[in-house]
Amino acid sequence: MVAVAIVGAQWGDEGKGKVVDLYAGSADAVVRYAGGPNAGHTIVVGEDRVVLKHVPSGALRAGTICVLAQGMVIDPDALVAEMAALSARGVDLSGRIFVSDRAHLIMPYHVLVDGLREAAAGEARIGTTGRGIGPCYEDKIGRRGLRAGDLRDTTRATQLVARALACWEPTIRRLGGEPPPAAPVVQKLAELGPRLIPLLRSDASALVDGIIRAGKRVLLEGAQGTLLDIDHGTYPFVTSSNTTAGGACTGSGVPPTKISGVVGVSKAYATRVGGGPFPTELFDEEGQMIRDRGHEYGSTTGRPRRCGWFDAPVVRYANRLNGLSGIALTKLDVLTGLPRLKVCVAYEIGGVRRDEVPLSLPEFEEAKPLYEQVEGWKEDISSAKEFGELPKAAQKYVRLLEEVGGVEVSLVSVGPDRNETIVRKNPFRS
Ligand code: IMP
Repeated sequence: MVAVAIVGAQWGDEGKGKVVDLYAGSADAVVRYAGGPNAGHTIVVGEDRVVLKHVPSGALRAGTICVLAQGMVIDPDALVAEMAALSARGVDLSGRIFVSDRAHLIMPYHVLVDGLREAAAGEARIGTTGRGIGPCYEDKIGRRGLRAGDLRDTTRATQLVARALACWEPTIRRLGGEPPPAAPVVQKLAELGPRLIPLLRSDASALVDGIIRAGKRVLLEGAQGTLLDIDHGTYPFVTSSNTTAGGACTGSGVPPTKISGVVGVSKAYATRVGGGPFPTELFDEEGQMIRDRGHEYGSTTGRPRRCGWFDAPVVRYANRLNGLSGIALTKLDVLTGLPRLKVCVAYEIGGVRRDEVPLSLPEFEEAKPLYEQVEGWKEDISSAKEFGELPKAAQKYVRLLEEVGGVEVSLVSVGPDRNETIVRKNPFRS
């Protein structure tokens, strides 16, 4: 009875794709529980680089079952294209990819509203990925959404599209847009139906439960990061779903008592895309160096990511909310060559030291990082297979992150490839 959840411990883009793919080597199923094509989970195997948006990061492991669970929002057109691209690369998903009937569908009017709102918001924009995520989750919460299972029934889908469009029409017009006619929207769904209906499972959560009961290993794959969680993140600069470990339960149907571990994925530094507080952000050459060396440009939107030093209060907060059993620390290699590294251990807000992430947005925006500084290393670390093979300064840096982050580092990633990884503890064995 083993299910392990993988969550982002920062602001997303932590490298969850690589970590899930790695652990998927010893898992039977990977269940993606939240978000949609706002994610871009990157997996590198040799010369091959694959970016997954909907498809769980177990895709490249032959035989691993991939479930798109009910917490997800799915752009049906983009999912079909993603599967076709995987198939063209020789990734055979047939018979092992399933989509929950209950996952909500992102429709063209969701994407339209997302874009119009951001354009109208000016300086106050959230900096969304523009994939229609927020409006789709709004329809879900408003109980007027279209779900994957509705693909089976064109009459019902037609009614639901008409109802949703009637609801969005005034918003679209107020924002200066033109609502799309319903007919081509429904027509497109009818075209996509034959590709997606065979994958649908009305009992997706029972399917996952059966796998767990059979004593097999399940990974629950999160998207985005803890600080982007709709309830616990830097609201309103968040995504519209629960990205944290609680979301793994509601989004997949796996109960908390069946989750045996939660791995938080964190970069060895920090990045953020879009607006919102980011106390350790660097605006200087060092920030640009991290951006360039870490290829910190969005895998979904291509936007340059904001880069900064490791923020320990953020990771402590992620630990509290997710109950982390370990941290998978990624991109340590990106820091190679920097003469000295800074780690934010606390903040100063209004002249007072604060050890925790402030829960009010204005306070977080005002927070000034208090740093501890350590020496960097120059040696190439990408071939290290054991923690002891890392230069002493790199070991010291990782130990400092464990100490100030309050959670042990169970994996260290020293390069993008699957093989460039030091596994200190396997989450299925702990
Ligand atoms: P949305 O999820 O597209 O609505 O975007 C809301 C916020 O979450 C924006 O700041 C995005 O940049 C951020 N965001 C959404 N998905 C990701 C992701 O996969 N990585 C990093 N940031 C993300």
